Amino acid sequence: MGRHGDGKRVTWWQPGVLYQIYPRSFADSDGDGIGDLDGITAHLDHLRGAPGSLGVDAIWISPFFPSPGADYGYDVSDYTGVDPVYGDLAGFDRLLAAAHERGLCVLLDLIPGHTSVEHPWFRAARSSRSDPHRSLYIWADPAPDGGPPNGWTSCFGGPAWEWDAPTGQYYLHSFYPEQPDLDWRDPGVHERIGQVVRFWLERGVDGFRVDAIDRSIKDPLLRENPPAAPGERRFDFFRGQHHLWNKDRPEVLDVVRSIRRSAEAARPGSLLLGESYIPVERLARYLGDAPGDAFDLVFDFPFLASPWEAGALRHAVEEAEAAFPAFGWPCRALSNHDNPRHATRFGRRSLRAAAMLSLTLRGTPVLYMGEEIGMADVVPSSGVVLDRAGRDAARTPMQWRDAPAGGFTTGRPWLPVGDASQVNVEDQASDPGSLLALYRQLIADRAASPALRAGSYRGLETAADSGVFAYLRQSADERLLVAISTSGTAGSHDLYAAGRGRLPAKGRLRRSTEPDRAGGQALDLRRMELAGDEGVIVQL
Ligand code: NOJ
Repeated sequence: MGRHGDGKRVTWWQPGVLYQIYPRSFADSDGDGIGDLDGITAHLDHLRGAPGSLGVDAIWISPFFPSPGADYGYDVSDYTGVDPVYGDLAGFDRLLAAAHERGLCVLLDLIPGHTSVEHPWFRAARSSRSDPHRSLYIWADPAPDGGPPNGWTSCFGGPAWEWDAPTGQYYLHSFYPEQPDLDWRDPGVHERIGQVVRFWLERGVDGFRVDAIDRSIKDPLLRENPPAAPGERRFDFFRGQHHLWNKDRPEVLDVVRSIRRSAEAARPGSLLLGESYIPVERLARYLGDAPGDAFDLVFDFPFLASPWEAGALRHAVEEAEAAFPAFGWPCRALSNHDNPRHATRFGRRSLRAAAMLSLTLRGTPVLYMGEEIGMADVVPSSGVVLDRAGRDAARTPMQWRDAPAGGFTTGRPWLPVGDASQVNVEDQASDPGSLLALYRQLIADRAASPALRAGSYRGLETAADSGVFAYLRQSADERLLVAISTSGTAGSHDLYAAGRGRLPAKGRLRRSTEPDRAGGQALDLRRMELAGDEGVIVQL
């Protein structure tokens, strides 16, 4: 526990750094070409508790539950088991114990919105209209022309309805047809998912990242969505529609609170991190009315969607700062398993300053495995497409060493491995100028700094065309200025003027992202020299 700049107590996860593991691609212990739980256990030194560890506070492991794999684990057929490809429950318990021994918390993925078509609940539900499991899912009669009940589209394309011939009704699926939506208007769903939450928390996990929460409730009248405004880009406009009636309904907050109640009953203080691609002002609602009422954190995806451009990044950060309630705490990622990696979106030149940005903003950063060494998207050259939604390139295996398959597996990797001779953990671990070394230093800087851990945030009024995003982080006894250049070219910047009378004229460099620019030197804020895409932390 520590204290905010304003004196409020902070939890472990506010100053903490989270790290996402996509288990299929992290480390393979048995040579089948697919990552597994024992592989994660064997690589915990990379994360925490050993000399040279990154020093992250928690891992979030994407799904490893039994699944036919239509959506690589996000189609669950048994919520309380381990898919044999990843190991077994005993292996999970070993992983959990080993993580906890080194002070690393463990978050799992909770997928409350849909099961697999192979889940016993759905098999039973589709066995007959009178089966008691029927009401756990959303069924509707055909439209008068025999087609789908309405025109709702699924996230991955095509109608959100699938015909079930034996029972003569359609079922709803927000994602793939292999992922029938659960109906959270049915108390049986609350009860069953509540049991799942309790099962894992009582086993010792520290919380959940909660998948696609905004899809948990739909309009019971199945009203038609309006068409999306042409040319307008918004998270709730896709596949030609404004998803007004089947996404982010007001009652979703009741679902979050139900999950919260189950979590509190099993393990008070568990972390619940929500996933929803909606604008921040609507996202803020999912934090509820007070700490511990609903989600603790929600991903700020407008931030993830920002280009590498100072003004756009600042806009995203400050929209969240403005939209969140006073007790709210932002949560940001630059990459994840659903989007192109930021090394690819922003370009490699951005990586060092992007790391500083992510680790110095007010909020909890979630790193995506491999970003700490600068892994970029790897597009399978063979033309093989495994994920029908086109996300393979961001999911390729971790590059551990300059070795066949990057040291990820002794077998044939399930997806191609990037160029591990250029980018790998082992080489960067021994290079003090590497990106990995910078991540490690920034995580340590953050852990040691009250202002970075929990201080207040204030953006500076840098000129729109300066290409610099600068902000103050301040706690009771520490005041830091962070300046991030996104411009690609060196320049001199008047940050004193940008501070509008709030800043002293001089500061002292704490850290630069330039490996050869040592900390400690005095700086004139009126003429602050920044290299292209350099980030600096300055002590005021
Ligand atoms: C969000 C997950 O991150 C994504 O991978 C998945 O396809 C959808 N939710 C559906 O579960």
